[in-house]
Amino acid sequence: MTTTIATRLRVYHDADGSTPIRELSEGDAIAGELARIGVRFERWAADVELVPGASQDDVIGAYASQIAALKSECGYTTVDVIRLERGTPNTEPIRQKFLNEHAHSEDEVRFFVEGRGAFYLHANGHVYQVVCVRNDLISVPAGTKHWFDMGPDPEFTAIRLFTDEAGWVANFTGDTISERFPKLDQ
Ligand SMILES: [Fe+2]
Repeated sequence: MTTTIATRLRVYHDADGSTPIRELSEGDAIAGELARIGVRFERWAADVELVPGASQDDVIGAYASQIAALKSECGYTTVDVIRLERGTPNTEPIRQKFLNEHAHSEDEVRFFVEGRGAFYLHANGHVYQVVCVRNDLISVPAGTKHWFDMGPDPEFTAIRLFTDEAGWVANFTGDTISERFPKLDQ
């Protein structure tokens, strides 16, 4: 993993993706801002170096203690892993799918253990762009409109936690709002 950047939150009015009205980089401040829209943001220790080619089971095994703690604390029943190593071919269709605004009937919970990706949360007349990096845990509540950008050259590993995996169907809103906001690398 070569990308080392920090977590960042930019808040925009939802009608104007050109200029953020607030920008935060400190973890507690980001958590406080996101709590206002019901989004949980925490830092958990992602302290294991994963080898190239690590499987889903390898990742789950490496983070067994954190996963057990999250399950008992929050009632999650199942986990899986999404891992895109740098240079993975044909990622653009996956990227495009989640660039469209959608919501789920289940909380969307991601623990980033490598790399980075940007969540965009559309709530209360604002868009909150949260660039999540290693150690960041984010929980987007059921029903919150959002989209996600993994960037043109994705590199991230996220553990996904579910209370009901069947609820993680994307219900697309049909709104093209995401086209008016900066992408991960802009
Ligand atoms: Fe989603």
